[in-house]
Amino acid sequence: MNTSEDNGLTMSKTYKVAILPGDGTGPEVVVEGMKVIRAAAGKFGFSLETEDYDFGGDRYLATGEVLPDNAADELSAFDAIYLGAIGHPDVKPGILEKGILLRLRFELDQYINLRPVKLFPGVETPLANKTPEDIDYVVVRENTGGIYTGTGGISMKGTESEVAVQSMVYNRFQVERCLRYAFECCRRRHSAEKPWSGLSESDKQEGKIGQLTLCGKTNVLTYVYDLWERAFYEIAADYPDIKTDYCHVDATCMWMVKNPEWYDVIVTGNMFGDIITDLGAITQGGMGIAAGGNINPDGVSMFEPIGGSAPKYTGMGVINPMAAICSGAMLLRELGEAEAADAIEAAVAVVTGTKMQSMAAGRMGYSTSEVGDLVAGELA
Ligand code: IPM
Ligand code: MN
Repeated sequence: MNTSEDNGLTMSKTYKVAILPGDGTGPEVVVEGMKVIRAAAGKFGFSLETEDYDFGGDRYLATGEVLPDNAADELSAFDAIYLGAIGHPDVKPGILEKGILLRLRFELDQYINLRPVKLFPGVETPLANKTPEDIDYVVVRENTGGIYTGTGGISMKGTESEVAVQSMVYNRFQVERCLRYAFECCRRRHSAEKPWSGLSESDKQEGKIGQLTLCGKTNVLTYVYDLWERAFYEIAADYPDIKTDYCHVDATCMWMVKNPEWYDVIVTGNMFGDIITDLGAITQGGMGIAAGGNINPDGVSMFEPIGGSAPKYTGMGVINPMAAICSGAMLLRELGEAEAADAIEAAVAVVTGTKMQSMAAGRMGYSTSEVGDLVAGELA
């Protein structure tokens, strides 16, 4: 980030953002996200310097290279990364996902995957009788460990005796830094003046302001989630203002559907986090509006809609850019531009609440770029 002086009176900040439009509909949604980010920048007095990178399926098919070896190094010089989507119908599943998305998450040590589950006004949820007040929590997914990076392999492949192993590995350092982030995240969401609405009177009298739920599987994964659980309660001692709660992952899924209002912040390992955030996404209106951020609190973070590249809609102007727009708000929040992020989220709420017919591709009542225009227009 540069701070430059403008005729000696005003200071304007410039953020360097790397843009990875990616595959399928990724480029279309990123254009709308940048439209909104730039509108917010104009309003709140900062600017952006962007550089595009063509990582994705087309580049791989043309060059045979998934990701240049210096990519993470080069990207770490930016203030943030804004990603569209990775996944190409002509490339075998796994190559691009592991070779680009996961590799960047790991090499840039983006150890948190932050995924808000928030029902915006006017958005249809499949959960009966639930309103935006009920569906408003955050999942803190560990993003660099677990089964995703555990050891494994396959032997005697193709024979009757073949053996496949993929192990869930966590060390205390990974677990602790994720848990601390989650406690801090919960603190940031609330204050003594504005405690989480799900707390009881007696919780509030005890000084609690929010609730952190550890989602695990301590009844079966008695090594890995035992480590998580012990670390969780040890660290909780440093956060007397946060109410702690534990839920097995299977039960978490059930309550996310039946009583989503029970949740404030959920923290969990990589694989469970992947699964429960797709469930969370559908309860908030689907992939068209589910945003996420791969966060390295001490480095460069990467923001992306959590859905895929939706290749069948490519170039049709029907894909919903809201997930990308909300990821853009998260990007600005991480850069310290909270006011701009709040303003984008408020603009999104107006557009979902009073304009759009649906969050589904092709059924929005507007084209992709019109949705971007509407949000940008609300900001102006
Ligand atoms: C996600 C995706 C990725 C993941 C895939 C594409 C590797 O499902 O971001 O949730 O499993 O993390
Ligand atoms: Mn996923």
